[in-house]
Amino acid sequence: MKINNRIVNLQEYHFNKIETLKREVSAKGKDIIDLGIGDPDLSPPKEVNEALIEALSYEKYHNYPVSEGIFELKEQIAKYYKVNYNVELEKDEILILVGSKEGLSNIIPATCDISDHIILPEPSYPAYEACSRLWGVIPYKTPLIEERGYFPRLNTIPENIKKVAKLMIINYPNNPTGAILKEDFLWEVKKMCREYNIVLCNDGAYKEIVQNNKKKLSILMGGIENCIEFGSFSKAFSMTGYRIAYVAGDKNIIKALLKVKSNIDSGQFIPIQYAALKAIKDCEHYIEHINHIYYRRKILAENILKEKGLEYFKGQGTFYIWCKVPKGYTTDEFCNKLLVERGIVVTPGYVFGKLGFGHFRISLTKEEELISKALNSIDKISMN
Ligand SMILES: Cc1ncc(COP(=O)(O)O)c(C=O)c1O
Repeated sequence: MKINNRIVNLQEYHFNKIETLKREVSAKGKDIIDLGIGDPDLSPPKEVNEALIEALSYEKYHNYPVSEGIFELKEQIAKYYKVNYNVELEKDEILILVGSKEGLSNIIPATCDISDHIILPEPSYPAYEACSRLWGVIPYKTPLIEERGYFPRLNTIPENIKKVAKLMIINYPNNPTGAILKEDFLWEVKKMCREYNIVLCNDGAYKEIVQNNKKKLSILMGGIENCIEFGSFSKAFSMTGYRIAYVAGDKNIIKALLKVKSNIDSGQFIPIQYAALKAIKDCEHYIEHINHIYYRRKILAENILKEKGLEYFKGQGTFYIWCKVPKGYTTDEFCNKLLVERGIVVTPGYVFGKLGFGHFRISLTKEEELISKALNSIDKISMN
């Protein structure tokens, strides 16, 4: 059979692979504590489900939704940007998506031709590179290193890459490191992308998961020209399975993205869009509530890691902790040992790119008791 060569070279999605391993370990009678995938254990706000059920009685709820999303939801997202970031957005500067993963893939053909260059961070969410390669676009990886607080050094991106790159993706709050956007970097990256006519895209899937009292920042601040930002209901409202997100910014980019999207799929199921409307309109209290929970989990986890002598980055966003693999182990040896001997799933750092070797990611998407049980069983001394 003849299939696309780009598929042949594509890695299997790590979180699918790990499910098989988990089943094997579990079949041997071991209890599993999964701190791997970033899928919240918390329930969405109850008002969201009530709104979902109510919307099932709306006229034409079952018909094809318009690709761009319902007007009321776009209007509410515009209000959210005004209140939180003082950014004014029009209706044609917002698009509703079937999850930001969908949008992150479609933005590539919307902005890049085959063989064009895209600037990506490393380590990063694996879909950026996978989708770039699928669409025939060549990634240039800009390293995120701890000494720089996990921000790229823009002046090390070669001139010939900046001249030809059409799209740059950044991701703050950052998966996997937990770093949050800083104002000086925000202005610097916007300036560079404007100067070289590169579309700047912030994947803001974790925009709301930030520790208390940190000033909220968006790359749409200070002008939306050349910029777009993704936002998602997945993490902010624990709605991963609903598949609903949005993108906002420069209307020319939004228009191109809509062209790709409307040729590939239709909009999200209308009642789910009304559920999301309820969340963003009336559930700010929920975000405060979950940030408090994640903060407590984080302090708990960090204290145990410290006790065990394990090094980690003190990020202020997301619900992840980016840790160093203890000396004497390869990343795989350590992560496999944790799974096979202790039943603990963490994500090996290389899933996020080569610079992730020597690291692993903990997702704080389990109750405190389970986090404590899992991390306390990482006994550095007996593992050596
Ligand atoms: C950085 C990042 N972007 C995007 C996504 C996908 O989010 P969504 O559920 O909106 O597709 C994830 C999911 O884990 C993520 O970690």
